[in-house]
Amino acid sequence: MTEPHADALVFFGATGDLAYKKIFPSLQAMLKRGHLNVPVIGVAKSGWGLEQLRARARDSLEKHSVFDPEAFARLCGLLRYVDGDYQDPATFQAIRQELGDAQRPAHYLAIPPKLFGLVVEQLAQAGCTKGARVIIEKPFGNDLASARELNGILLRTFSEPDIFRIDHYLGKRPVHNMVFFRFANAFLEPFWNRNHVESVQITMAEDFGIQGRGAFYDATGTIRDVVQNHLFQVLANLAMEPPVRTDSESLRDEKVKVLKAIPPLEAGNVVRGQFRGYRQEPGVAKDSQVETFAALRLEIDSWRWKGVPFYIRAGKCLPVTCAEVVVRLRQPPTVYEGFQLRSNHFRMRISPEFTLAVGANAIAGAQETDSAPVEMVACHHPDPEEMDAYERVLGDALAGDATLFAREDYVEEAWRIVDPVLKAGTPVYEYEPKTWGPREVGANVTPPSGWQAPAVGGECA
Ligand code: BG6
Repeated sequence: MTEPHADALVFFGATGDLAYKKIFPSLQAMLKRGHLNVPVIGVAKSGWGLEQLRARARDSLEKHSVFDPEAFARLCGLLRYVDGDYQDPATFQAIRQELGDAQRPAHYLAIPPKLFGLVVEQLAQAGCTKGARVIIEKPFGNDLASARELNGILLRTFSEPDIFRIDHYLGKRPVHNMVFFRFANAFLEPFWNRNHVESVQITMAEDFGIQGRGAFYDATGTIRDVVQNHLFQVLANLAMEPPVRTDSESLRDEKVKVLKAIPPLEAGNVVRGQFRGYRQEPGVAKDSQVETFAALRLEIDSWRWKGVPFYIRAGKCLPVTCAEVVVRLRQPPTVYEGFQLRSNHFRMRISPEFTLAVGANAIAGAQETDSAPVEMVACHHPDPEEMDAYERVLGDALAGDATLFAREDYVEEAWRIVDPVLKAGTPVYEYEPKTWGPREVGANVTPPSGWQAPAVGGECA
């Protein structure tokens, strides 16, 4: 069923960082593609007027996009601005006025989660929620209990199909391509199961620190920031069963089933680390026990995956910036005595490039007495004209397509898995910046054939 397109976009947090870095560039890209033709009402409490918001939008496009004067002029024509306190009903009356006769507004809450409840309630009281959608930024809750509470607040005003929980990783082409690639081709399926797969490893490494986000990060940590959401979404795409149809609910049903099959994480299957120097960052507690690195092992107790360990590691201040998956197959029974055979693998890189690669053994050397690992690589450099993740998810939310958004049951299952570890107070080990985490990353959280360090630079030369 095709959902009606939103006829107005209201975005809260219009003068904030996310709007500056991501939302204005996405709006410009949507305009250029002819995907945006509704009023865009920015809301914030900054004492600004419309001209200041337009200037901010221009600055954002110059710094974080390629400025397009024609698209910018059209954006200025669509842009409205409401300045006011979220506590004050007058702010929401002003939004109601700006909405005019819009029947299907989309309210995008790019604001701190503690304000979600207040804003939703005020919107409802001002009569702005009839026929409306709500788009919510991550983190969606802080643990299972708070996510349930937040879902409860939203569901008092909106119905589940009108709630769009953003996880921008789902908007990345290589991430949603995982599902397409698995099910639009025949060749992976025969080995994509416990009979042939030895282990799966997912790495999300960033070579930078917390970039001035100390207060946010110190209340969050790596597991809440990227594991419970971005990397679980990657895992679900890798592990899900083929959907019976491609509508949003058939796809999201399969993803939830993956999470349902994962037992809660045990403290012994997680190692947390903190880079040296983190506690000196502004906004970070001097005795902080928050992790900037995590390595963990999960099991999926399903017919397809029982017994196959899934490993995830993610962190700040690591040696490279790269996100990739390595699916390693079991060793073949060798008939080549004396040859050092590596098990085959399948590699999917999410960023910085978009790569699909198959690792195999080939005969090597002049003497032909040994083998060499080879990789068959298909590589794609993102094209500046391609949709970026935010443009994709924002466009889909306006169009009412929920496929790339986390459903209530999914979010709650994801919290169920990590909750025990978030509460366990496991030790946080220090690591040197530019290394692969603390020394304590031992066998329990290391794939049988080891963690594969992503080779960055020259992959797609
Ligand atoms: C965000 C996290 O959700 O994702 C950041 O809060 C992280 O800490 C970022 O750096 C990574 O996303 P991307 O698209 O920049 O790789």
